[in-house]
Amino acid sequence: MLCCPIIKNKTIFVLFLCNLLLFSILYYAHICYAEVNGKDQPGSPVVNQGNIFSNDQTVHTQYSNFYEINKGLVWVGLLTSVAGFFLTVFLFRKNKELTKSQLSLKQSEQRFARVFHANPNIQTINRLDDFRFIDVNDSFEKIFGYGREEVIGYTPLDFNLWVNPQLQQELLTLLGNEGHYTDKEVILRTNSGEEKVLQGSGVVVDVTGVSCVLISLRDITESKQMEKEIKKLDRLNLVGQVAAGIGHEIRNPLTTVRGFLQLFQTKKESCDIYKEQFMLMIEELDRANSIITEFLTLARNKPERVEMKNLNSIVTKILPLLQAQALKEEKYVYAVLDKVPDLLLDENEIRQIILNLIRNGLDAMSRGGNITIRTYIQEPHTILSIRDEGEGIKPEVLEKIGTPFYTTKDSGTGLGLAICYGIAERHNASVDVKTGPNGTIFLIKFPFDNQNQLCNTKVS
Ligand SMILES: Nc1ncnc2c1ncn2[C@@H]1O[C@H](COP(=O)(O)OP(=O)(O)OP(=O)(O)O)[C@@H](O)[C@H]1O
Ligand SMILES: [Mg+2]
Repeated sequence: MLCCPIIKNKTIFVLFLCNLLLFSILYYAHICYAEVNGKDQPGSPVVNQGNIFSNDQTVHTQYSNFYEINKGLVWVGLLTSVAGFFLTVFLFRKNKELTKSQLSLKQSEQRFARVFHANPNIQTINRLDDFRFIDVNDSFEKIFGYGREEVIGYTPLDFNLWVNPQLQQELLTLLGNEGHYTDKEVILRTNSGEEKVLQGSGVVVDVTGVSCVLISLRDITESKQMEKEIKKLDRLNLVGQVAAGIGHEIRNPLTTVRGFLQLFQTKKESCDIYKEQFMLMIEELDRANSIITEFLTLARNKPERVEMKNLNSIVTKILPLLQAQALKEEKYVYAVLDKVPDLLLDENEIRQIILNLIRNGLDAMSRGGNITIRTYIQEPHTILSIRDEGEGIKPEVLEKIGTPFYTTKDSGTGLGLAICYGIAERHNASVDVKTGPNGTIFLIKFPFDNQNQLCNTKVS
């Protein structure tokens, strides 16, 4: 009875009325019978001359039997009525209790739904046996770009959500064995193909008798990226400090050796036969010297000569040189320059960034390839982007770019990007890389308030 479904109060009322009606009918039947037989006292002896059955003793006995049956029916009716009354009262009270508990269940469901949907973290409810979505919250829709109705009833695999699809089975096994998991890092793909690093937990819950898993995920893509950049910059700063420490010490003896080599070169009588070797040694020393010069730029923590400049004017000045260099390799450089605000820039350093990125782009492309330099505003940043049509950067290389001396080229020093990152940092700009088999794009993002930030840096 306790777990019986709630009976509507109207139904109980109808039951009660039926009960009353039954009792009334029986009572009325009894009265009628008594009247027909001239009896007003149910249960007293039956004698009725006016009645068609009055002279028949058998009929008289039947009357008595009928009367007894009728009396019995009235009692049954009465008892049913009383029982019905108590049953009605009982059902009514039970109903009240159930309605109350159902109401509080409904309220708690509504509370859960509000928390579920308003949660800034991604939340989903999936079936435990096949991982089909039962519900997703607003953050899921916003971050992944799929509507609720679109995903409900489907699995993450149907949407190619997993970057690493076997993880779904691993998580399901973990949930099956332990009932929950916490702080797992997963990479999922959004509707637009962007990859998001998410950290989250899952717990098995019962939803209307079906085993489900409630998943909460936090988007840590940006903090992961930042972590990587900080690590990179830390390495860069360390290398910069080392460079500052030993750069000058190495340069001085090199200068001395170079001076003597030049001197010997002039001594025709004894050294003429080694003229070529002397030349080579001097060239190698010059190369070492230029590497040290580049290396030393890593040690800087401020731009040297900053002034209010426009990125477009720097690009326009350097463009013919870049185009001429590219043309020698049958490659092309274009510039698409939007109107951008002036920024506090060190012109030489910005040129250096452009030169290094263009050099890398040219190295990555085969003949006929194009490089596009763009400047544009994407609030709150002014962007300088350099896009090439090269082979792209492999994931294992992408991890390491910007680390001083990391190169995949035979003749590279591996300082080009390290210098770019250093220069960007000194201008309070960040560097983003997007790469794929059709090319690579480097985005240098200068904040609008680069001016203020640089001034603050200088003061401190
Ligand atoms: N646009 C690009 N396309 C493909 N790979 C690139 C690109 N830019 C950089 N790389 C990869 O990153 C590595 C590091 O680049 P970086 O500019 O720091 O050094 P490098 O070009 O090898 O040497 P250098 O010091 O002469 O610049 C390169 O060796 C190359 O493998
Ligand atoms: Mg390079």
